[in-house]
Amino acid sequence: MTIPLLSFADEREWREHIVSDILLEVGKAEKSGRKAFHISLAGGTTPEPVYRALAEDSRIGTMSARIQVHFWVGDERVVPADSPWRNGRMIAETFGPAAATRGWVRPPVVHLWPEKDPSGACQTYAEELKAAMGRQPVFDLSILGIGADGHTAGLFTLADAMNADAPLAFSTVAPSEPSERMTLSAGVLRQSRRIMVVARGAGKKPILDAVLLGKHAYPISFVLGGNSVIYFME
Ligand code: 6PG
Repeated sequence: MTIPLLSFADEREWREHIVSDILLEVGKAEKSGRKAFHISLAGGTTPEPVYRALAEDSRIGTMSARIQVHFWVGDERVVPADSPWRNGRMIAETFGPAAATRGWVRPPVVHLWPEKDPSGACQTYAEELKAAMGRQPVFDLSILGIGADGHTAGLFTLADAMNADAPLAFSTVAPSEPSERMTLSAGVLRQSRRIMVVARGAGKKPILDAVLLGKHAYPISFVLGGNSVIYFME
């Protein structure tokens, strides 16, 4: 299966394409009468400018009157909630009540991983997911990053990504600090209605090419599918 890779040399164009694509998905859901739109967000650094542009976009702010947007955190680091390493801190600062989303008719709901022991946090987050979306949660959209080793979310090994019996949320170990992580499963991410990979920098191009060639399996290989698109900023 071919996964489209759209390359950009201009950051504004890259950002605007991704935001427009997200808005298209929200618009489709709204027009089909859906009342909620659930987005799982990647952590790391690449997506931040995209998230800021989305938060500040008046079009989604208007659509929020008719469809409640929910932001979830696809994976988290086991660090204090106020740590600069915490994905939820960046996401809450971008989409939280004090942020640019003040202009939304209905501010988004931001679902953060609880700050407790990893096992308890994973269980609580999974319960929150099921309470919001039912026992088989299906995200409307998952935004994913990719590491130079082919990891995505908190899925760092093939075992992390291939475990068909994995719970919705579980602990993993990253090869770089902070090493203790928590992640949504490859399965729940894979069954998203749409997946957008947001990648940036020449260092990421070899792994993107390798994943698309499919000659070797990487953790992200077990998540992407016909629902996926890659937005690459050179
Ligand atoms: C995390 C992420 C992780 C990230 C990649 C790429 O918590 O670190 O969710 O999967 O998306 O490591 O990170 P950068 O965008 O910072 O390169």
